[in-house]
Amino acid sequence: MTIIVTGGAGFIGTNFVKKWISEVTERIINIDCLTYAGNIKNLKGIANNDNYVFHKVRIGNKDAVKQILNDENPRAIINFAAESHVDRSILGPEEFFNTNVIETLSLLNNTKEYFNSLTDTKKNIFKFIHISTDEVYGSLGKEDKPSVEKDPYRPNSPYAASKAASDHLVRSFGKTYELPCIISNCSNNYGPFQYPEKLIPLIVSNALKEKELPIYGTGEQIRDWLHVSDHCDAIIDILEKGKALETYNIGGSNEIKNIELVKLICSNLDKMAPLDNGKFYESLIRFVKDRPGHDTRYAINSNKIMKDLNWKPKIPFEVGLVETIKWYIKNDYWLEDIQNKSYDGWINKNYENR
Ligand code: NAD
Ligand code: TYD
Repeated sequence: MTIIVTGGAGFIGTNFVKKWISEVTERIINIDCLTYAGNIKNLKGIANNDNYVFHKVRIGNKDAVKQILNDENPRAIINFAAESHVDRSILGPEEFFNTNVIETLSLLNNTKEYFNSLTDTKKNIFKFIHISTDEVYGSLGKEDKPSVEKDPYRPNSPYAASKAASDHLVRSFGKTYELPCIISNCSNNYGPFQYPEKLIPLIVSNALKEKELPIYGTGEQIRDWLHVSDHCDAIIDILEKGKALETYNIGGSNEIKNIELVKLICSNLDKMAPLDNGKFYESLIRFVKDRPGHDTRYAINSNKIMKDLNWKPKIPFEVGLVETIKWYIKNDYWLEDIQNKSYDGWINKNYENR
């Protein structure tokens, strides 16, 4: 049998494809158009694996995607492909709505046509899994309970709004056309291969170069962090045991303020890669102008997936964070390779007026 993933050359997709190839003996087809966030080199270790096929194609390319579906005959599609960085969505929302909404609609239309062509036996096992975010629920107050699946959507950034819109589209295809869709809403992921514009790799990368560590606003905002490997395990559980038309929240139950997280990274780096001048990494911290509409707190209640699908996170945050920092230190060439490309242009644009 075969599964298809989209966006498999990005952060979570790379980790998913690698996990799949190392743990499962089923073919996996990766459709990714390689935006700035997609990196084909992430997958060079498995590029020649007999169970892996890559197509450099946009999810919105109707004819190419249709051809791949008909040729590959997948039992499931997992849609990771998206524009994913909140700050970029603030400076340019259009691309987010094009990919996350319009192109997702095209992928859904293709999937619906393909699904309708299947035999009943194949229809019974087919799933379309849409990978979404906790950010669709909007910002929580300090005393609010973590978000549950039935909570209303209150997206605040253009990124979250585009993901919310795509979730609604997916839901509508499930309800209207009986396409067996499942949506997962996950909290902030961390781990290897994350593009260094997101908080954790940005801080590690800047620190290693003794550059300033930018904290938006006061750094009091809270995120709930989950190791990407635990997220990938949850997606595999959803693929094998999830019920059509359900949504599943996935979180680490691991809330931490940005300032505390950055200080934790600094204290780990003090041990792993002490600065020559005897200074501590914390001295590089700079409070900069806040992100507009910055959500105060995200927190996710994962009881449903824990109870129904028997998933639970395996990697304690302290352990996962240390391993992640070590990975970025060891793979500094990976960071440099990205930073030699169009990276500086974006970083200068994002931080110039802060
Ligand atoms: P990412 O930005 O690292 O990777 C996105 C990938 O999608 C890239 O490889 C890119 O080339 C590809 N892509 C973008 N547009 C495409 C298109 N039109 N056609 C084909 N490929 C395209 O993102 P990520 O962090 O790996 O996130 C993956 C998914 O998980 C996204 O849908 C995101 O919203 C969701 N998510 C991310 C997090 C997180 O913390 N990173 C948390 C919850 C949910
Ligand atoms: P980010 O990794 O962009 O994820 P998201 O916005 O999807 O949660 O940011 C995580 C948190 O860190 C968020 O509250 C914004 C904050 N942040 C900073 O304080 N400084 C930075 O340079 C970045 C990129 C993020």
